Amino acid sequence: MLNLDFHPTGRHFLQIPGPSPVPDRILRAMSYPTIDHRGPEFGALGLQVLGKIKQIFKTQQPVIIYPASGTGAWEGALVNVCSPGDHVLLYETGHFAWLWQKLAVRLGLNAEILTMAGTDASSGLPNAYRHGVQAEMIEARLKADTAHSIKAVCVVHNETSTGVTSNIAAVRQAIDAAKHPALLLVDTISGLASADYEHDAWGVDVTISGSQKGLMLPPGISFNALSSKAMAASKSATLPKAYWAWDEIIEMNKTGFWPSTPNTNLIYGLDEACDMLLNPRHGGLATTFARHLRWAEGVRAAVRAWGLEILCADDAVYSPILTGVVTPVGVDADQVRKIIYERFDCSLGTGLGKLKGRMFRIGHLGDCNDLTLIAALGGCEMGLKLAGVKLAGSGVQAAMDYFSANLAPTA
Ligand SMILES: Cc1ncc(COP(=O)(O)O)c(C=O)c1O
Repeated sequence: MLNLDFHPTGRHFLQIPGPSPVPDRILRAMSYPTIDHRGPEFGALGLQVLGKIKQIFKTQQPVIIYPASGTGAWEGALVNVCSPGDHVLLYETGHFAWLWQKLAVRLGLNAEILTMAGTDASSGLPNAYRHGVQAEMIEARLKADTAHSIKAVCVVHNETSTGVTSNIAAVRQAIDAAKHPALLLVDTISGLASADYEHDAWGVDVTISGSQKGLMLPPGISFNALSSKAMAASKSATLPKAYWAWDEIIEMNKTGFWPSTPNTNLIYGLDEACDMLLNPRHGGLATTFARHLRWAEGVRAAVRAWGLEILCADDAVYSPILTGVVTPVGVDADQVRKIIYERFDCSLGTGLGKLKGRMFRIGHLGDCNDLTLIAALGGCEMGLKLAGVKLAGSGVQAAMDYFSANLAPTA
C-alpha cells in the first residue's frame, strides 16, 4: 500500500482553505455502520439532516444535497436553470470565478465575465484579484441588457483563491436597481458556515456550497439551496439534466430519501456538523462567524508585522476564512510553501492561476483555535526566513498580542 504517512508524530497542520481539518467528533460519527439507504432508519436521518442544513443556509426553501464535490454543484445549478446558448453573466473575483465561467462555456452557455480592469501598482497583480465584486459594474451591465437576455448573474461569495468575501446583498440590490429579471447564483463553497450567509434574506436564487470547508467534513457532498424563482425556472430550462435534476431529488427528499444512493457516512458527518454549528450552548452560527473574524484579524496582524502585503486590498471585504499573503517580488511563494511543508509539517494554499508563485494562502477556518494558528504562523515565519525573506518583525508575536488582547467570542 502507498505510504501516506509522511508525518511521524503529532498532527499535520492542514492550513489550506479547505479541505479543512475534520474534528474527531465528526470522524467518529462517520464511522457508524453504513445502513440501508432505503430503510426507515435512513429516512428519519434524511429528514433530520435536510431540516438542519436549511438552518445553515438560513433558508426555508429546499436544499439539494449532491454526492459530488463543489464543481458538481456548480454544474447542477446551471443545468437546472439554463437552456442551451443562454447568456449568463459572471464576475471575475479570482481563479474560482474564472473556473466557473469555463464550466459554463463547456455546458454550451454564452458565459460573459466582467473583470475589474488594470493591475495593482504595488504588486503588479490584477486588480480584480485584490477586490470584491463591484456591484455597480453588474448593475450597469444589466441596465445595458434592455432585451433581458441575461439569464443569470453568477458570483463567488468567498473567493478562495484570493481571500476576498464579496457583498452579496449589494449584488442583489444591483440586480433590483437595474429592474432585471436575472437569477442570482452564488458560490459560497468556502464561505458557508464560516462567514455570515443568508440565502433567503439576500434574495439568492441558487446557493452553491460544499462539505470540505466551513462544514468541517471531508470532500464529497455539495449543495444547491433554491428559491421558488429558481425552481420555476428549472421547469422550463432545457439544458440536458438527469443526475443533477432537482425535481426528482426534491420529490424523494420529502420522505428523507434520494433517487440514487446517497453517501450515507458523509450524511452522518453532516448531521453531526450541523449539531456542532447550531448548538446554542456554543453560540450557534453567530459565534462561529465572530470566531472566524477574530482569527482572520489575528492572522492579518501577523502578516502586517512581517511587513508583507495582504492580497485583499480592500479592508471592507477581507475574508474571515483565509488570508492571501503576497511574497516580495523575486521570492517564489511555492518555494516558501515547500520549505514550510517539508520542515514544519504544515500545508498552506498555493497561488492559483494568475497568482501562481506570487502568494500563498493561510486557511483559518473550521476546526481551528488560537494556538493552532500561532503554530501555523510560527511555521510561516520560520519558512519565510529560511527562504531568505527579510521580515520587518515577528508576526507570531503580533498574533499572540492580538489574541491576548481580544477575548474569543462566547455564547
Ligand atoms: C470558491 C470555490 N468554488 C468552487 C470550488 C470547486 O470545488 P471542488 O474542488 O470541491 O469541486 C472551490 C474549491 O476549492 C472553491 O473554493
